[in-house]
Amino acid sequence: MPRYDVVFREARILEDGAERLSDVAIRNGRIEAVRSRIAGDGADEVDCGGQWLLPGAVDMHVHLRDPGLTHKEDLGTGTAAAVAAGVTTVCDMPNTRPPVLGIDELRAKAARARAVAHCDVRFFVALGRDNVDAIARCVDEPSFVGVKVFLGATTGDLLSDDGTLRRALDALPCLFVFHAEDEGVLRRNLGAAGASPDAAAHHVLRPTEAAVEGARRVAALAGPGRRLHICHLSAAGELPFLSGGPQGPTGEVAPHHLWFTADDTARIGNLLKVNPPVRLATDRDALRAALADGRIAAIATDHAPHTLDEKAAPYSAAPSGVPGIDTLVPSTLRLVQTGLLSMARAVDALSAAPARLLGLADRGRVAEGLRADLYLWDERKAWCVDRADVRTKCGWSPFEGVTLAARPDAVWFEGRKVVV
Ligand code: DOR
Ligand code: ZN
Repeated sequence: MPRYDVVFREARILEDGAERLSDVAIRNGRIEAVRSRIAGDGADEVDCGGQWLLPGAVDMHVHLRDPGLTHKEDLGTGTAAAVAAGVTTVCDMPNTRPPVLGIDELRAKAARARAVAHCDVRFFVALGRDNVDAIARCVDEPSFVGVKVFLGATTGDLLSDDGTLRRALDALPCLFVFHAEDEGVLRRNLGAAGASPDAAAHHVLRPTEAAVEGARRVAALAGPGRRLHICHLSAAGELPFLSGGPQGPTGEVAPHHLWFTADDTARIGNLLKVNPPVRLATDRDALRAALADGRIAAIATDHAPHTLDEKAAPYSAAPSGVPGIDTLVPSTLRLVQTGLLSMARAVDALSAAPARLLGLADRGRVAEGLRADLYLWDERKAWCVDRADVRTKCGWSPFEGVTLAARPDAVWFEGRKVVV
């Protein structure tokens, strides 16, 4: 009888931010040993030959559209795309149909995930206008990760109000994540781009000031015992509102905001129409710098699939959002190869940091006792993104034609090699 289920030999791993070669042994879905030389054998022996063995990415922000919008994505297709791309945990947003506002919708989603999901899925519940008590009944559910608050309207039109928000913050000891574009600023700007705007004007219609005002409002809520987090940072002006401390706000950045600018929106049109918008090169560069030095803790995709047909509508009718789950790991590791991020920061922002923010202590690093969610990555290979090889149901990517780092060579989820 082999002692372990899998033993990885001579894997390159990160330990406390430093890289080293190690053997890694897995048993019963957990990492049981991380040592220079592991004596026992594995039912499966994987010779890594110095290739990177990295912790599965934890994507704390996806829209898997299930139920109600499953022509764009569903819990099966979205998680299959995720796990094939090295993402082993995803946190799904509540703007489905029906939206998740209480325990019935939460349990229905969790049951569906148990039936069809290929990776671990947790769920946010939306703060509406009067559902604090309903959320209180959700917080002990194993699938619950936190509360999503929309300070400005976007796909799904879930808005709260200040009174409900204050009551929720006082009553609920959990993570609050904010879509922090301020509704007042958005409304005042509606006419800003002239009579018949197109996608090139999207960042003018939803201006930087909306995001900065939203971040300011979130920062003003910080206090003892609170866990506040700003989703998809998009503007340099939001960064001063991030706090280094545990009360937050902490922040996440999406790959499209790290890679694209309004010039790209002008080039590819509605496909890059997304809320908050991609903005100026100065914003992109400030976000990259803040990710590199840790002011921005995590990378999360805001994977928001819409079909090509839907995106082909005129600008004002086309839905906002871009898919990102296929490209999360390759785009982030490409920033390492171009010298913008250290390997340690990239892997922390993909895995350990989001796991920490979500309170998922059993994942995010290659360390003894943690879940065996892992992938092998070959740093010598590259991937020029092609519509034909993305797996999201919507079938396209804003990164088409862009050369990224390679996708994982192989992925293990709970200790089992993934075949999707
Ligand atoms: O562009 C966006 N799309 N921003 C959001 O906040 C929601 C998302 C979606 O669900 O499509
Ligand atoms: Zn989102």
